[in-house]
Amino acid sequence: MLERLNAPPARAESTAERYDWDELVQEDRVHRLIYTDPAIFELEMTHIFGAVWVYLGHESQIPNNDDFITVRLGLRPIILLRDSDGKIRALFNRCTHRGTTLCRKDRGSARFFQCPYHGWSFLNTGKLRAVPWPDGYACDFKDAKYNVAQVPRVESYRGFIFATLNPAAPALLEYLGAITKPIDEWLDRQPGGKIAVCEANRLRYKGNWKLAYDNSGDGYHVVFSHRSLLEMENRQADVANKGMSYYKGSPDNAPMYMAYMGHGHHFKDKRPAIEKRPGGLWAVEGPHPGMEHYAQSLRQRFGTKAEEILDLASSEPVNINVFPNFSLLGNHIQVFEPISVAETNVTWYGTAVVDEEGVLGGAVEEINALRMRTQEQFPNFGEVDDLANFEEIQRGLACLEDEWVYMHRGLGIPGRVRTGEDGIITAPATDEAFMREYIKEWKRLMKASPNLVVQREP
Ligand code: FES
Ligand SMILES: [Fe+2]
Repeated sequence: MLERLNAPPARAESTAERYDWDELVQEDRVHRLIYTDPAIFELEMTHIFGAVWVYLGHESQIPNNDDFITVRLGLRPIILLRDSDGKIRALFNRCTHRGTTLCRKDRGSARFFQCPYHGWSFLNTGKLRAVPWPDGYACDFKDAKYNVAQVPRVESYRGFIFATLNPAAPALLEYLGAITKPIDEWLDRQPGGKIAVCEANRLRYKGNWKLAYDNSGDGYHVVFSHRSLLEMENRQADVANKGMSYYKGSPDNAPMYMAYMGHGHHFKDKRPAIEKRPGGLWAVEGPHPGMEHYAQSLRQRFGTKAEEILDLASSEPVNINVFPNFSLLGNHIQVFEPISVAETNVTWYGTAVVDEEGVLGGAVEEINALRMRTQEQFPNFGEVDDLANFEEIQRGLACLEDEWVYMHRGLGIPGRVRTGEDGIITAPATDEAFMREYIKEWKRLMKASPNLVVQREP
C-alpha cells in the first residue's frame, strides 16, 4: 500500500522555487549558501536524501532472518532488517502512536519491536501486532495506517543495499550505471567476489555533508593535507615509494586519473600506478604494526602464493564514489550521513574476506587480522586531516560577503578533460571536473519536484 505524502513536499516545493539554482551553481563556482543555508539543507533531505538511491547498509550486516541494524535515510531513522520470511525491508524507526523511535539499538535480532513508550508492538514486517488494553480504543487497529511506514523501494547491488522513497527513480542498476564496473572489479578481487562488513571507525565533523563528497575524488589536496601521513609512510629509506607515494611530485604525471560516470558518481583510479604482479599491491603497502610478522609467517607457509594472499590485505588504490553517500576506498566502505547543515557523520566500515570455497588454504584469519591493521591507518592518520579542513571550510564560509567557492581546476584547458563515446568524462587526478559534474546533477535534483511516498503493510 503506497501512501502519497502531501504536506511536506508541498511546503518543500514552494521553498525550492525561492532559490535561483542557476545563480547558486555556476560552471566554475558555487555559492557559499549551498553549504550554509539550513533551508537548502532541509530541501536536500527530500530532493537528494529521499529522491535518489541512498546507501543504507550491507547484506552481511543482517545475514539471518530477523536480523536488523539501525541506520538513517537522510535524517529519517531507519531499521534495516531481514524480516522473518527473509525479505529485506527499511522500516521508519518511528512508532505510529506518538512517534517515538521503536528501536534504540545499533543492531540485533528481533521478530517484533515493542515501543518503549506505551508498549505497542510491531512485527518485523511493520504490521501492528498488539496494543496494550485495546478496550480503551474505539478504532479498528486493522487499518493499515497503524502499521509502521517503510521505504517503498529497497534494492541490493551485489550485497550493497540502497533505498529510495521516489517511485519515479530509475531502477538501482540503471542509477548506478557505469560505476558498477569499478564496483565489480573491487568485489571480484576478493575470494568468491564477496566481503563481510566489520566494525567501523565512526567520525563526526562540524561541516556540511557535501564537503566530504567534494573531497571524495580530490587528488589536488593530498600532498598538502596529508603531508604528515605521507612523510610517516616514507620516513625510512627502505619503505620509500610506499603508501600514497604516487602523489609525490606532480600527481598529474603519475599513472592515475579520475572518471565521472553519471548520476553524480565518480571514480579515482590509482591502480595503474601499481605493478601488475602477485604481491605488487602488497609491495607498496605502507608500514603497519606487526605486518612483517604476518607476512613472514604467510611466506613460510605458502611460498610464492603468499604474495597473492598478501595483496588481499592491501588497500585497493581506488576511490569509487556513489552519490550521495557511499564510497569504496582501499578496503573500506565509507558512508556519509548528514545530521544538520553544518554537521555530518563519516563512518568507515572495515571489510573482511569471506573464504567460502577455501581458496585461501586456511589463511583467512591471518588475512583479516592483517587487513584490519591496514584499514586502521587512513581513518586515524589521514581522515582527521580531511575533517579538520572540512570544519575550517565551514568556518571560512561564515564570511558572508565573500560568496563564491571555486571548483574550476582543469576547466577551459583544451584536451585536458575528455568525454568518451560512452559519456564517461576523464580528467587528470587533480582536476575538479568530477565536482563540477556532480554539482550539476545536484542542481538538477534540487530543481526537480520529487513526489516521495512511503508504504505500509496492508
Ligand atoms: S509512542 Fe509508541 S506506543 Fe506510544
Ligand atoms: Fe584526503
